[in-house]
Amino acid sequence: MTGYIGKPLSRFDGSAKVRGTATYAAEFRPHGLVHAVLVPVTIAHGRVASLDTSAAERAPGVLKVFTPSSFPRLDVARAPVPPLGHSYLPLQDDQVLYDGQPIALAVAETLEQAEQAAQLLKATYQLAPAKVFGSGEARPPQRMNYAFEPTEQLIGDVDAGLAEAAAVVTGTYTLPTRHHNPMEPSATVAEWAGESLTLNTATQWAYAVRLVLASLFDMPPESVHVRCPFTGGGFGCKGFVWPHQVIAAAAARELGRPLKLVLTRAQMYTECGFQPAMRNRVRLGATRDGRLTAIDHETTSVTSVIEDYLEYGVAGTRGLYAVPNMRLVVKIEPAHVGTPTAMRAPHEGPGMFALETAMDELAYALDMDPLELRLKNDTQIDPSSGKPYSTRKLRECYLEGAWRFGWTRRPMQTGSLRDGRLAVGFGMASAIMSTFRFPASARLRMNADGRVIVEAAIQEIGTGTYTIFPQIAADVLAIEPAHVEMHLGSTDLPNAGPTTGSAATMGLGSAVHAAATDLKRRLIELALAQPDSPLHRMAAETLVARNAGLAAARDGNRFDTYADILRRGGIGQVVAEGSWSPGAPFDAAGHATPYSMRTFGAVFAEVTVDPDLGLVRLRRCVGVYNAGRIVNPKTAASQMTGGIIWGYGQAVLEESAVEPSYGAYLSKNLAGVMLPVSADIPDLEVAFVEDHDPHASAIGARGIGELGAVGVSAAIGNAVFHATGKRIRELPIRIERVLAM
Ligand code: MOS
Repeated sequence: MTGYIGKPLSRFDGSAKVRGTATYAAEFRPHGLVHAVLVPVTIAHGRVASLDTSAAERAPGVLKVFTPSSFPRLDVARAPVPPLGHSYLPLQDDQVLYDGQPIALAVAETLEQAEQAAQLLKATYQLAPAKVFGSGEARPPQRMNYAFEPTEQLIGDVDAGLAEAAAVVTGTYTLPTRHHNPMEPSATVAEWAGESLTLNTATQWAYAVRLVLASLFDMPPESVHVRCPFTGGGFGCKGFVWPHQVIAAAAARELGRPLKLVLTRAQMYTECGFQPAMRNRVRLGATRDGRLTAIDHETTSVTSVIEDYLEYGVAGTRGLYAVPNMRLVVKIEPAHVGTPTAMRAPHEGPGMFALETAMDELAYALDMDPLELRLKNDTQIDPSSGKPYSTRKLRECYLEGAWRFGWTRRPMQTGSLRDGRLAVGFGMASAIMSTFRFPASARLRMNADGRVIVEAAIQEIGTGTYTIFPQIAADVLAIEPAHVEMHLGSTDLPNAGPTTGSAATMGLGSAVHAAATDLKRRLIELALAQPDSPLHRMAAETLVARNAGLAAARDGNRFDTYADILRRGGIGQVVAEGSWSPGAPFDAAGHATPYSMRTFGAVFAEVTVDPDLGLVRLRRCVGVYNAGRIVNPKTAASQMTGGIIWGYGQAVLEESAVEPSYGAYLSKNLAGVMLPVSADIPDLEVAFVEDHDPHASAIGARGIGELGAVGVSAAIGNAVFHATGKRIRELPIRIERVLAM
C-alpha cells in the first residue's frame, strides 16, 4: 500500500504517552542533580528594599540562595528579542517591573528543601503605583521586535466609505488577558560539562534556546545542546525563550552541579507570557444589498513596560472581505505586567471576535442573513495587498458548513427558538489565519535493512510530529510508515524551526519530502550501478518512466527492494538531506511571493441560554476549514477540535483577571481561572475543504493548527444574541454579563 499522505494514521507516540513512557523535561535526572525554586516578588512595580536570606541559607540541604547581589551578571543585550521572550533578566538588579518577577532562586539537594528555603526568604518592598490595562495611554509601538505586518494601513477613504453606506455599525469589543495553561509546566534541567551545556527543557523551539543561551554565555552555539523529545503542551508559552531557562543554566554553572528548575503552576502565569487583554474599535459600513463600503479596525493590547509586544488584532481583518476602504491600526498600552507572547491563534484569535461580531451586527442592521452577508463579500483577492490568494476555498467552507449545520432552519428573528425554558440560538462566523512559514531542514538515513530514520530538530507538542513526517517520507519512498522512525527534539539534528505558527507540517514536511526524494534518487543510482542485478532493469524503467525517479512511486511496497539494493551493494547506510524555505527567515502571509496566503474556515454554533441563570451552553458546533492539502486528516481534525474547545473557553469562561490597584493576577491557579472541561463540550463536527496549494509549500499544504481556535467565540456570541437579543461585546460571556442586560 502506498500513498500515505492523506491517510488518517493514529499517532505513533500515542501509547507511549498514555502509558507514561514518553519522557518530559522534568523527568531527566542526571547524577548529582540539585533542585531550584524561583521566589517571585509580591508587588507589580517598585523596588526590593530588603531581602533577608539568613533563615533560608541556614535551612537543611540548602546549597545557595541567589539574589540580585549574588547572581551572575548577564548582558541581556547580547541575545535577540525574540526569540528571547523579553529584554529583561531578573536577578540582575532590585527593580520590580511586574508581579511575579523572580527576586531570588533557592537551590537545595531536594525539591522540598528548596521549597522550604524559598518560604523562609523575607523581602520588603518600596511600592510604586502599578499601571494596569485601561488606565494608561494607547500608543503606536516604538520598538518593533515583534513586527511582521504594518501597524498602520490605510486603503482608500474610510470616512467616505462610511458616508456612502446604507448601514453603519460601530462597536468596542474587549477581550481579557488569558494564559496558556499547558498540562506540563515549563521545566529545565541544565547540566554543564566543562564548556559544554546540555539543557533538557520544555520548548517549542530548541534552536532558539540554543541561540539565546549561546549568545548570553558567549559560547559557540555547537557547545549548547538542547533536548526536548516531548513537550507537554505549549500553545505559545514555550515558543520563545524565557528567563527561567537562562536562570537554570547560569545557576547550574555557578554551582558546578546539574540543576532542575520547574515553574510552579502559579509561576506559569508570570514567567512565560500570556495573551494580552485587547480593546478593539470597529466601524463597518455596507450598501443596502450588503456590500462592504468600509472597514475601520483599531486594536490596542496590553504589553509590559519592558517590551512593545504586538498583538495584531487586525491580521484577519486585513485579508477577509472585499472592501475598497480600510483602516487598520495596531496600538499597545504598556502596563506593569510581564511581557505577553503568542498564544494559540495569536492575532486572529482575539481580533476576529471583534470583526465577526460586528459583521453579525451589520447583518441585523441590514436585515440580512449573516451567512449571506459573508458570501456577498467573499473574494479571491487579498484586499490589503491586491494579490490573488494562493488558494482560497472559503465559499465552499461556508456552504459545506451551512449544509452540515442546517443553517437554513435558522429564523432571522432573535429570541424565536426555544427548548422548554431555554432560549436557543444559532450563530456563525468566519475563520481566517495567517500562513506563517519558516525554513526547515531534515536528514534521512536508510540503514542496511531498509529502515529509515528521519532526523530533524522539530518539537512534539501534541500535534503529531512523530507520525506526520514518517508518513511523508513513507509516501515518497513507497514503504510503510512503520518502517520509518522519527528522531526529533535535539539541536544535534538539522534545524527544523519552531513548532509555532501552525507551520511545522508545511515547512518541515516539505523538507522531509525533498530529503526522501533525494534518498530515492540515490537508491536508484545505486541500483543502476549494479548491472548484474535484476533491479537494474527495474530501476532503469522507473527512472525513465518517472522522469529521473523523482515522483512518488505508487507501485507497491519498495521496502524489500531497497534492502536488496543495499545488500547487493554492500552499503551500510544511505544518507540524504533536504530543506525548504519560503524565501525569507519568516513569512506571515506570502509576503515574499506574488500570492497572499492565509487559511480559512466557517464556524457554526448552537447554544442554549438559561434565561433565569444566565448560563450559556454550547450544544453543537460545526467547523469547516480550507488549508490546502491535509497530510493526516485524523491529527488535523484533532487540532481543529481542540481549537473549537479553546475558542469555547475564550467565549464563555477564560479570564486572567487583574486586581486593579495592585496590578497582580487575582488567581494564578487552575481553580480560580475557568477552563473548559469535557463536561462542557458537546459533539463537535469538523470537516475540511481540501485542495492543493502549489504556492505555499512543496507538499501543497498550508498551516492548520491554530485556525480552529479562530471565529469560535464570535460564532458563540452571535448565537447568544440570536437566542436572547443581547449583544455582549466583552469576553468572556459570563453569567453576570448575560443577566445584566
Ligand atoms: Mo502558537 S501561539 O504559534 O504556539
